[in-house]
Amino acid sequence: MSGRIPQYFIDELIARADIVELIGTRVPLKKQGKEFKACCPFHGEKTPSFTVVPDKQFYHCFGCGAHGTALGFLMEHDHLSFIEAVEDLAERVGLEVPREDRQLTRPAPADGLFAILDQAAGLYRQQLNASQQAKDYFRARGLTSDTAATFGLGFAPDAWDFLLQALGDSQSARMKLLQAGLIIERQDKPGSTMPPGYYDRFRERVMFPIRDARGRTIGFGGRVLDKGEPKYMNSPETELFHKGRELYGLYEARQASRTLPRLLIVEGYMDVVRLHQAGITYAVATLGTATTAEHLTRVFRLCSELVFCFDGDRAGRAAAWRALENSLSQVREGRQIRFLFLPDGQDPDSLVGAEGREAFEQRLQQAVPLSEYFINHLSDQVDLQTLDGRARLGELARPLLERIPVGLYRELLADEVAKVVRLDRARLTAALNPGGQVDGAQADAPGRLPAMAQERQRVGNRPNLVRQAIHLLVHYPQIADSIADTTALACLDRAGIPLLVELIETLRAQPCATTGALLERWRSRPDVRSLAKLAALECLIQDAAGAAHELRGAIEQLSEEGVVRRREQLLSKHGSQGLTEAERAELQGLLRGRLGGGDDASARI
Ligand code: UTP
Ligand code: MN
Repeated sequence: MSGRIPQYFIDELIARADIVELIGTRVPLKKQGKEFKACCPFHGEKTPSFTVVPDKQFYHCFGCGAHGTALGFLMEHDHLSFIEAVEDLAERVGLEVPREDRQLTRPAPADGLFAILDQAAGLYRQQLNASQQAKDYFRARGLTSDTAATFGLGFAPDAWDFLLQALGDSQSARMKLLQAGLIIERQDKPGSTMPPGYYDRFRERVMFPIRDARGRTIGFGGRVLDKGEPKYMNSPETELFHKGRELYGLYEARQASRTLPRLLIVEGYMDVVRLHQAGITYAVATLGTATTAEHLTRVFRLCSELVFCFDGDRAGRAAAWRALENSLSQVREGRQIRFLFLPDGQDPDSLVGAEGREAFEQRLQQAVPLSEYFINHLSDQVDLQTLDGRARLGELARPLLERIPVGLYRELLADEVAKVVRLDRARLTAALNPGGQVDGAQADAPGRLPAMAQERQRVGNRPNLVRQAIHLLVHYPQIADSIADTTALACLDRAGIPLLVELIETLRAQPCATTGALLERWRSRPDVRSLAKLAALECLIQDAAGAAHELRGAIEQLSEEGVVRRREQLLSKHGSQGLTEAERAELQGLLRGRLGGGDDASARI
């Protein structure tokens, strides 16, 4: 399947992706010299051995050996298929995935689930049409039939087996319904002789299909018609539906306009639908969960301005602060995050209904920037008139500031905190970071030593030329074309030679710009682990020209060995079973080369 996406595109994707940003949204990275470090997300550890190398576009864990590129990370960490990871990354960097045949490249195992969710959504829509009660409900809430159609709204009738009857006619169909979260397995009483059974999850509820970025239904939210608990019921997490990722209304927002001026994150399904109907088509909602860094990653792939909108009550304020905390890893220059607090007792649905689009958009203008909310909220927790209070504010701010990626925004916000606690910035930094970390720049030298020490340890005193050559190529894939010929090299019977030869030939035929792209090509090969290990070891040679020179030296030496070995091979075959014409000519050439001096021999080869 992956063969359908051209190699050049994968190379381009790896080169364009910002692996630090990608991983930084999921794992708190700390800058150390040119690299970034964290505790490894793939195994439990207390001291960070997970390393991200931005200029090589790959990551590696010295603890558990996990490694890969931006694509690999998305696959491992977010459990995406290769195709999904490619699409995700492409969306981030704004590239269209070139493909010959879309149908063939869809992730196959999930297809059945998409299909059954799509069928369920269709049935619920039909039921809405058939139910006066449900139509009345939406009408009473001010929705038009156009809006209902845009969002694919529906109705799950009052029955325990509506979907079961309609779609669950075989055991395999019932398994699909179960996997899709549409039915629930009955917990029978102990000792019961009933066969295992199932019942519909959604009954007598108006239904909001939740769609993925491509418009495929991946889950549902269902609301009771009047009073009843719970008010909203959501699909469980399934293979397709991850609440920490999905935003309700994002597909519809993107359908409504090609470019999004901003995104507005609200709390409820009805808020999104009602705002959309009022012409504010850029609202989305999280699905009964807090906003995650992952939600924001998706948001910032599409636009650079985000407004959080919360009810003005206590719960709303608590949710807002949690959203701020979860946003910090996403904060950076060029991105705007603001907070809008609504009057107590109102939500966007009720407000836009009461005052209309323009008044609501006026409110959006008044939203408070994250930095301001940050300072105000912390200031409210302490008494700024006292020294103790100001010290406490510094303490509260520190771990939060540390979550912001190193950069201008973090600096400016730290400056603001310094003003509020009435310390000059240098003293604040010193007070907060006895080890020196807010700026992240001091820590240049540590972090390199282990890599070098490891290299020395691994290589030992006798340099392994094959390994050195591979090491150079992994760090500087572009130098492969400084090697003209690999024939003599290929004669060597040494560990690593086939890999080295293949690396040189592949890269000569199709140069690729980054280490990450190289690792991506080797993704499904057993050799990829050793390549990744070498990529993780620091290369002492600092530029490509120097590396090319070293590589030529290593290959020459190896080729000479290869010539000797080939000559021995041919001589021994000559003695035992005789040589073909071509072999005889080759041997003569090799022997002449030897008589004429070693240089001549290696030059010919
Ligand atoms: P609210 O309780 O604020 O409801 O839940 P609402 O959006 O104003 O709903 P209406 O206007 O009465 O229809 C906000 C969001 O929290 C989630 C839903 O996503 C809902 O839209 N929620 C709420 C649940 O998941 N379960 C619940 O029982 C309640
Ligand atoms: Mn509401």
